[in-house]
Amino acid sequence: MKFDTPATTNPIDQLKVVGHPVDRIDGPRKTTGTAPYAYERHDVAPKAAYGYVVGAGIGKGRIASINLDEARRAPGVIDIITAQNAGKLAKAGRNTATLLGGPEIQHYHQAIALVIAQTFEQARAAAQLIRVRYDRQRGAYDLAQARDTAAKVANRPDSAVGDFAGAFAAAPVKLDATYSTPDQSHAMMEPHATVAAWQGDKLTVWTSNQMIDWARTDLAATLGIPRENVRVVSPFIGGGFGGKLFVRADALLAAIGARAVRRPVKVALTRPLMMNNTPHRPATIQHIRLGASLDGKLTAIGHDSWSGDLPGGKPENAIQQTRLLYAAPNRLSTLRLASLDLPEGNAMRAPGEAPGMMALEVAMDEMAEKLGMDPIAFRILNDTQVDPEKPGRPFSQRRLADCLRIGAERFGWQARSARPAARREGQWLVGLGVASAFRNNQVMKSAARVRVDGNGIVTVETDMTDIGTGSYTIIAQTAAEMMGVPLDRVLVRLGDSDFPVSAGSGGQWGGNCSTAGVYAACVKLRDAMAQKAGFAPQEAVFDSGQIRAGGRSVPLASVAAGAGEGGMVAEDVLEFGDLDKRFQQSTFGAHFVEAAVDAATGEIRVRRMLAVCAAGRILNPKSARSQVIGAMTMGVGAALMEELAVDKRVGFFVNHDLAGYEVPVHGDIPHQEVIFLDESDPASSPMKAKGVGELGISGVGAAVANAIYNATGVRVRDYPITLDKLIGKMPLVV
Ligand code: MOS
Repeated sequence: MKFDTPATTNPIDQLKVVGHPVDRIDGPRKTTGTAPYAYERHDVAPKAAYGYVVGAGIGKGRIASINLDEARRAPGVIDIITAQNAGKLAKAGRNTATLLGGPEIQHYHQAIALVIAQTFEQARAAAQLIRVRYDRQRGAYDLAQARDTAAKVANRPDSAVGDFAGAFAAAPVKLDATYSTPDQSHAMMEPHATVAAWQGDKLTVWTSNQMIDWARTDLAATLGIPRENVRVVSPFIGGGFGGKLFVRADALLAAIGARAVRRPVKVALTRPLMMNNTPHRPATIQHIRLGASLDGKLTAIGHDSWSGDLPGGKPENAIQQTRLLYAAPNRLSTLRLASLDLPEGNAMRAPGEAPGMMALEVAMDEMAEKLGMDPIAFRILNDTQVDPEKPGRPFSQRRLADCLRIGAERFGWQARSARPAARREGQWLVGLGVASAFRNNQVMKSAARVRVDGNGIVTVETDMTDIGTGSYTIIAQTAAEMMGVPLDRVLVRLGDSDFPVSAGSGGQWGGNCSTAGVYAACVKLRDAMAQKAGFAPQEAVFDSGQIRAGGRSVPLASVAAGAGEGGMVAEDVLEFGDLDKRFQQSTFGAHFVEAAVDAATGEIRVRRMLAVCAAGRILNPKSARSQVIGAMTMGVGAALMEELAVDKRVGFFVNHDLAGYEVPVHGDIPHQEVIFLDESDPASSPMKAKGVGELGISGVGAAVANAIYNATGVRVRDYPITLDKLIGKMPLVV
């Protein structure tokens, strides 16, 4: 099915099941520990050997020699895989670094060996006996220092509209400020893990991966085998945040190891290996210049961003929102990429907007203050309903101003003092902060197969993944709505490359796109079943397990039973036409934060948070709310604590475990609320939904920073905002 005109009415709009806050259908399996994660697939590979990944001990250089003799003699060792005996490996398209390094080393903790033994402990012990000598080379590890050598990237052109330089120079009110965001780690709960097994020349990997078809394609390409010979299974995923978009060393090395030792091999990356072996969100330096007239209208917006990556890598697209968020006739935005020898930089939750909004939305706060305006009024004054860089191109929906107004009302914004450091409660200085939320809505084609059997059970199969987001549940809701059955009559099977190829989980497109694919398959199945029951498909109503038309009704189950043993099945793919070109599709919101800062110590406490989201139809308000709350929490982490500390001499992330890389815990987040505006976007898909999982983080960091400024009068432009950056500048209060 091709989606190329905005949706009108369709069975989804009944909202009998879709749009309801139903519990996760996978909840009982998760809470009883019966949902198997990749490393727990004892059932499929009972005789698995254990692989232990050895990471390179230098940031850049060559392996001069590697001595495996002692390790090979260690108890329980079956084999050791290195680049020398791994066989020919091609480079697949999606990983910047090579997943098995040697002799060239591209980054610290790049995998250089897999030790395979009878037990995990034996593999780990033997790994310590491998002797490696390196020839170190000088690497570039410091973004600030590499900034001057950063270059334009071919597919990321500058965007210039009007005369930015002239308008900025002439503006009566100006802001010119530079912000920085640090390298961050996905730090998801479940480590990267894979069990691999071969049957003849056919490979199966049980792994933890967001994008099944990408994984299948890239594994096949790397190993030089046909795509059909690779099966990827990933039904349950303990978080990804973008870190599991691509095949990592665990999957590739488990596959190579299993082939070498002729038995299944399981590999998990240990937590201390993850931060440097797998990708991270790259640090940015962002220069923002805003010019406005005295009445607060922006006349010039300039945003330049620098980030680094390994040679051949990508820039962090931190200017993405700046091209779309506010009106101004004169605009300039640029991306520059420095070549760094740190581990691979790549997508992490809301790549682009998450760090970009941390800078832009603080700049907007600073500018509002210069203009003597309320920061909400300033944002609303500069709102736009058309793409400000492509004249005449409308947003499909844009209720940013509503989000800001409703949030202000609900959060008690009028109680905020425009003067910083004006509110004190005992030892605490208290402030309120706001930021817009913005994240683009992307669409990706998605397929599914739907079956109705003789018992009236509806089974959905698609290679879509559930990374903790609620995919199982919203897909079941979609099928229940379309086929007219209660939710408990729907069985959802996900995360297997034997199933039709879905959009996968990424870029907050998964919810909208994967359910749209299920919708398409259901439309096809409805037509076939109506016809089989002797109805005109356009007239048939699917309701309460029956197909009805013209006063006659037939049970769905008996129509399916009449078709034979397998019941009736249909498969279809929802392909998107050019609606995302004709309309700018984005999601909007507003984040509100109340922060308290200890007047003596600079300790920061986030007390209250509110997110108001306008993101199309909300398919399940309960799972969507969980997404946003998780994203807000992650935004607090970005604002206050998350930072991979770079050792700029030898080139690695020093704090590579969860003791040193701090993320928020429940005690850090006392009160959070989420409001979804009641909207549906007919241009986004037949589901009329968009995404919330990344909208929820985009802007949070700035709202926290702005609240801290309002509390203390101290403006910190380098994240994370730790108390050492505040304490010397705190107002003297007696
Ligand atoms: Mo997302 S960073 O595309 O999982």
